[in-house]
Amino acid sequence: MSPPPLSAELFNGHLAAVAISAMNELGLLDALDRAGVLHLPSWAEQHQLHAMTVDSLMEVLALYEIVTCSADGTARPGKHFADILRTKGYFTWLTSGYGRLFQNLSGTIPLAARTQGFIERDGRAIALGGRDYGRQFVDEQFDHVLRMHDFRVVADLGCGSAERLIGMARRYPAEGIGIDMNPGAIELAARGIQEAGLEHRIGLVLSDLRTLEPSPRLDRVDLLTSFFNGHDLWPREACLAVLERLKQVFRNVTRFLLCDTYRAEPFTTISGVPIFTLGFHVTHAAMGQYIPTRADWLELLEEAGWQCNGVHEIGIPYSAIFDLSPVRRTGRHD
Ligand SMILES: C[S@@+](CC[C@H](N)C(=O)[O-])C[C@H]1O[C@@H](n2cnc3c(N)ncnc32)[C@H](O)[C@@H]1O
Repeated sequence: MSPPPLSAELFNGHLAAVAISAMNELGLLDALDRAGVLHLPSWAEQHQLHAMTVDSLMEVLALYEIVTCSADGTARPGKHFADILRTKGYFTWLTSGYGRLFQNLSGTIPLAARTQGFIERDGRAIALGGRDYGRQFVDEQFDHVLRMHDFRVVADLGCGSAERLIGMARRYPAEGIGIDMNPGAIELAARGIQEAGLEHRIGLVLSDLRTLEPSPRLDRVDLLTSFFNGHDLWPREACLAVLERLKQVFRNVTRFLLCDTYRAEPFTTISGVPIFTLGFHVTHAAMGQYIPTRADWLELLEEAGWQCNGVHEIGIPYSAIFDLSPVRRTGRHD
C-alpha cells in the first residue's frame, strides 16, 4: 500500500498528539505501564470516564502502534509505547499547555490584537508537562553535574513549583531558597515544600530577579541554579543587567548552574527536526519572546563576568547546563 498523502499524515498525527495528551493527563499511560494490561471498560468505570471517548482515543493510539487493543476490551503496550511513555510530557506541554493559543493563533498575529494578556496558555498543564519531561530528560544529567560541587545553601532562580529544590534537599544535606516572581508559583512551591516536610530547610522569596536586592539571607547562598527561565530574562541588554546583578546580590556564590533550551540553527528538512524544538520556537515567537542561541548565551555570559567551565547537553533537544563561576572585579575566580 502506498504511504498516505502528507495531508492525511498531518491530520491524523494531530489527533494522535491530542490522544496522547488526554490519556497521559488521565493517568492511563502510567497505569498501563504499571499494570502491563488494562481492561478498558473496567478502567473507565472505575475512574468515572466516558467509555466511548476512551475507546475512540485508544483506537487512534492503536493505529499508531502505541497500544494494542483486543476485542474483549483489554489494552496492552504496543511497539512504540516506551517512546511515548518517555515523551508524553512534551505532548501535554504542547497541546494542553498551549492549546488555547493555537485555537486562536490567527487572532494573535494582527499587530492590533497584541495587547496585554493576548496570549492564553494553561500554566498548570505547562508545569505538569515540564515536570514529566524534566524527570525523564533533565534530572539525571543535572544530578551528575551537581555531584561535582560542594554546596551548603542553594538558591533556585525562577523556581516554579520548587520541585527541583525539593529533590536537591532530599538528596543533599543543604538548605534551599526558591525565588520566583509569580505568586501562583510561590503558592504551589509552598504547598509542595510543606507536603515534603521541608519547611525548615527550604525558604521562598517572591521577587523579580530584575529588582532583587542583597540581604544577609542571600549572602549565605553558595550555589545558584536556574531551570528553563534564563530565556525569560532576554532581550540581551535586560539579561546582561540581571546576570551582573546576580553577582552583586549573591556575594558568596561560587557556582551557577544555568539550564535552558536554546535556539536551534535553522532546519533545512523536517526529517532532521527532533521533538519539542519547533513547538518551543513557535510558541515563543507567538509570545514575542526571543530565544537565544547557544552562541548568544556564551557571548553574553562572558560579557557579564560569568566564566563558563563547561556546557553539558541534556536529554531535551537543544538544551544544556552551563556550568558557571563568577569573575569578581578583584580578578579573583571564586
Ligand atoms: C518555565 S518556568 C520554569 C520553572 C522551574 N524552574 C522548572 O524548571 O520547572 C519559568 C519560571 O521562571 C519564573 N520567572 C520568569 N521570569 C522571572 C523573573 N524575572 N524573576 C523571577 N522569576 C521569573 C516564572 O514565574 C516561572 O515560574
